Amino acid sequence: MSDRIHTLSGYFHEYQKSIAQPEEFWARVADSFHWKKRWDKVLEWDFDGPDVKWFQNAKLNITENILERHLYTLGDRPAIIWEPNEPDEEGRTLTYKELYLEVCRFANVLLGKGVKKGDKVIIYMPMVPEAAIAMLACARVGAVHSVVFAGFSSTSLSDRINDCEAKMVLTSDGNFRGSKSIPVKAVVDEALEKTSTVESVIVYQRTKTEVDMKSGRDYWWHESLEGVSAENEAAEMDSEDLLFILYTSGSTGKPKGVVHTCGGYMVYSKYSFENVFQYSPGDVYWCTADIGWITGHSYIVYGPLLAGATSIMFEGVPTYPDAGRFWSIVDKYKVNQFYTAPTAIRALQAKGTDPIKPYSLKSLKVLGSVGEPINEEAWHWYHTHIGKTRCPIVDTWWQTETGGIMVSPLAGITPTKPAYATLPLPGVQLAIMDPEGNELTGNSVEGNLCIKFPWPGMIRTTYGDHERCKQTYFATYKNHYFTGDGVKRDHDGYYRILGRVDDVINVSGHRMGTAEVENAINEHPLVVESAVVGYPHQVKGQGIYAYVICDMKNRTKENLVGEIKDTVTKIIGPIAKPDKIQIVSGLPKTRSGKIMRRILRKVAEGNMDNLGDTSTLLDPEVVEQIIEGRVE
Ligand code: WT7
Repeated sequence: MSDRIHTLSGYFHEYQKSIAQPEEFWARVADSFHWKKRWDKVLEWDFDGPDVKWFQNAKLNITENILERHLYTLGDRPAIIWEPNEPDEEGRTLTYKELYLEVCRFANVLLGKGVKKGDKVIIYMPMVPEAAIAMLACARVGAVHSVVFAGFSSTSLSDRINDCEAKMVLTSDGNFRGSKSIPVKAVVDEALEKTSTVESVIVYQRTKTEVDMKSGRDYWWHESLEGVSAENEAAEMDSEDLLFILYTSGSTGKPKGVVHTCGGYMVYSKYSFENVFQYSPGDVYWCTADIGWITGHSYIVYGPLLAGATSIMFEGVPTYPDAGRFWSIVDKYKVNQFYTAPTAIRALQAKGTDPIKPYSLKSLKVLGSVGEPINEEAWHWYHTHIGKTRCPIVDTWWQTETGGIMVSPLAGITPTKPAYATLPLPGVQLAIMDPEGNELTGNSVEGNLCIKFPWPGMIRTTYGDHERCKQTYFATYKNHYFTGDGVKRDHDGYYRILGRVDDVINVSGHRMGTAEVENAINEHPLVVESAVVGYPHQVKGQGIYAYVICDMKNRTKENLVGEIKDTVTKIIGPIAKPDKIQIVSGLPKTRSGKIMRRILRKVAEGNMDNLGDTSTLLDPEVVEQIIEGRVE
């Protein structure tokens, strides 16, 4: 059964209902799922805790809603279509029936290795169907998965393993990405030297790279499956049991483990998927994200598979072997809904329209954008050259913490407007706040974006540190969830996301805490102090600009800059590597010692005429030096 909205008036009607009677509204949506036991109460909440419970005391297993539920109706329909990195390697298709058998078998492997309900399993894998199978197998046995993007360093990996006390790591020998092959297992080995909780590692063979296998700890994936039964009874989970932890950056140095739970996440990911993308049975849907990010969780794996959709999983990168790769895949599988990030659109836009010419793209019905504000130029390019002006663009605003899309057009149903995420989904109650904490009502207002009522997909806690969850999201404005984003509501009532208002930057759609990058830079032995800010970047949206005070010893500036970049790559991963590093002799500080980031941001942007008041600075001369030494 589908809860898809079909008309504009249907949207307004559903939205009104969802606000007037949220419990009735979500109970109706939830009724279309398979519950082992129905809930006693739809919603219990207190944003002060925060303490939010959806579908209280209901019992379920999310994989029964993906697998058993579709077995007799959609058993032979492709669930996952996998496109490998190399265009001439053969792809794979897993029907719902095949996916069911694979998940059951791997669930039995997990059980056989002693994984129990509540145990944490780290997934550090390439974009292969086994990564999705691993997630679902964890969910099947009640283990909590934490997928770590395979581009993260061994230090980032060991930090996450230690934070959630993971019992198992699922990985591969190596990963293919474009022309590169990355020795992933070696990264895991290094990470495990700094951890003590992991009992076993299962290694999927992908690149046939030689790896060290530690006896009694490391097992080959294919060998573990030998002789394992495909019969598995799904564990009974409480609606509020943990489904997964996903680490994300914030304004402090340490990434936090965002916790999502079974019942609410299930309901919200499917509902938002069907409505935003207007998925019809038989359509082929493709989201280009990596499963290491929330987009991959909600809109490659859970949302589409709960809806019985066909979801494409792509192992490679947009520009390999050439800048036409995305479009060749669209034509090859006759993709109907295509969902990507503005940074990818801009990177391809920079290559011109020649790479698009060989492809018809006529199967496309809907285009999606996610991860950062999409600028108007990229929006129009996407609309004209990819959508041939006939496909609505859904600019979807949401966050790791929201679990699913919160503000977006419903494709073809509600209006679109370039650079606007437009309107909230049913059940989403937005509030715009002024600096004093008053809600700004009416149109043509601008302020900080909050959400004033619970939705089923929302964050429940930050793993191991509930106080941090409260302080980060629920303490700034009483009784509101604070998103960290600035927003404008225009004269028509449409929302435009203006970007982060905290010390978080968005690099190629990936969230980076400036403090996290500073901590990594400071690991270099010659670094005395550093300050990191974002600046507008043509392709990435924001680039990373670092101001660093160093003891030069006998290094040249070039050497030092290179070493600092390597340090950050080693500590966090290549995604955090600063684009520009300026060696400075001092940082602009107030008399109380606070770094004036506003000034550093302006200089990084190249906006030097307008630095504002610098009279409160301890040493105003520092600013002149910084302007002089600015890195172009
Ligand atoms: C932050 C969340 C949600 C999946 C990918 C990123 C920014 C996300 C949009 C959009 C403007 C957007 C926000 C948000 N963001 N989508 N359509 N328009 N900004 O997830 O890493 O949790 O980052 O990404 O700043 O707070 P994330």
